[in-house]
Amino acid sequence: MSPALLDVADLTVRFRTPSGRLTAVDRLSFQVAAGETLAIVGESGCGKSVTAMALLRLLKAPPAEISGTHVRFDGTDLLPLSERAMRDLRGNRIAMIFQDPLSALNPVQTVGTQIIESLKRHTALRGAALRSRAVELLDLVRIPEPQRRVDDFPHRFSGGMRQRVMIAIAIAARPALLIADEPTTALDVTVQAQILKLLVSLQREFGMSLVLISHDLGVVAETADRVLVMYAGRKVEERPVADLFARPLHPYTRALMRARPTPGVTRAFLDEIPGIVPSLADLPAGCAFAPRCGFAIDACRLRPPPLEPLAGAGAVACIRTHHAPVEEPA
Ligand SMILES: Nc1ncnc2c1ncn2[C@@H]1O[C@H](COP(=O)(O)OP(=O)(O)OP(=O)(O)O)[C@@H](O)[C@H]1O
Ligand SMILES: [Mg+2]
Repeated sequence: MSPALLDVADLTVRFRTPSGRLTAVDRLSFQVAAGETLAIVGESGCGKSVTAMALLRLLKAPPAEISGTHVRFDGTDLLPLSERAMRDLRGNRIAMIFQDPLSALNPVQTVGTQIIESLKRHTALRGAALRSRAVELLDLVRIPEPQRRVDDFPHRFSGGMRQRVMIAIAIAARPALLIADEPTTALDVTVQAQILKLLVSLQREFGMSLVLISHDLGVVAETADRVLVMYAGRKVEERPVADLFARPLHPYTRALMRARPTPGVTRAFLDEIPGIVPSLADLPAGCAFAPRCGFAIDACRLRPPPLEPLAGAGAVACIRTHHAPVEEPA
């Protein structure tokens, strides 16, 4: 087996806050192979963005404290890397796109200028080649009439088109790994689907690895190879996408599945997950999901469940999954 492009072992992120220290990401381990798409899903506040930002060391420290066994990218451990070396890596071998393309683009510069800046910083291209590459990139992200649009300012683009521009900037240096943090949340459903299709086709074309962060399982179903489900800063389940959708195991994953709206089906109410994500500063002693879980037994409340590997592929952190057949509650 080829070694993983990204190999994260025991990544932990704590924040020092006026009311004490909280653990936003708790000993998170995962790998991403070359050319693979890993989706990270979970409700708001479960630590998805903090994980992504910690990988690229974009968190202000303090208040953030990042630790772990290693975060290996292409064989190099990023945890002890100098800020300077990290800066060379960011936007170059690892790129990131964010949820809100409007705030990420500079309103007083044409999109061409912004793409060219990225090309100058990360490639050897100079002179006229910069502009023609910028046009090529706009074409690559399927912006019509790229020759003309390259000189437009961001406000002349729709939300979906702006996100395409952000993707063009992110892939300008042909990164080996693209981290996309809720890249479609701000867009309407049709445009969301188009952006995801674009990401997948670019990923295939470039052989890029993709970490796709989303709170929406529907978004990842068609895109991901593997899915990592997070709850309160911990990995609760990780499975190949087909396995997860065929038979989700963790009660939290199953609740997420049920909360997923089905296109064309009007329901009186969504099966929303009762309760809220617990405060990270005050997590229960046992499984963090136990207070909301219909299957919880006393043992669940004693200590956090270990992440146990499954017979086929993947892992799940739930003692009920392993020691008792879990029946759907009536
Ligand atoms: N600078 C900070 N100081 C203290 N706590 C923080 C800080 N940044 C993030 N957190 C906390 O870390 C937790 C995880 O936040 P994160 O942004 O990773 O959630 P998320 O899974 O990306 O949610 P969403 O789906 O809403 O984007 C949250 O409880 C958040 O309040
Ligand atoms: Mg987030």
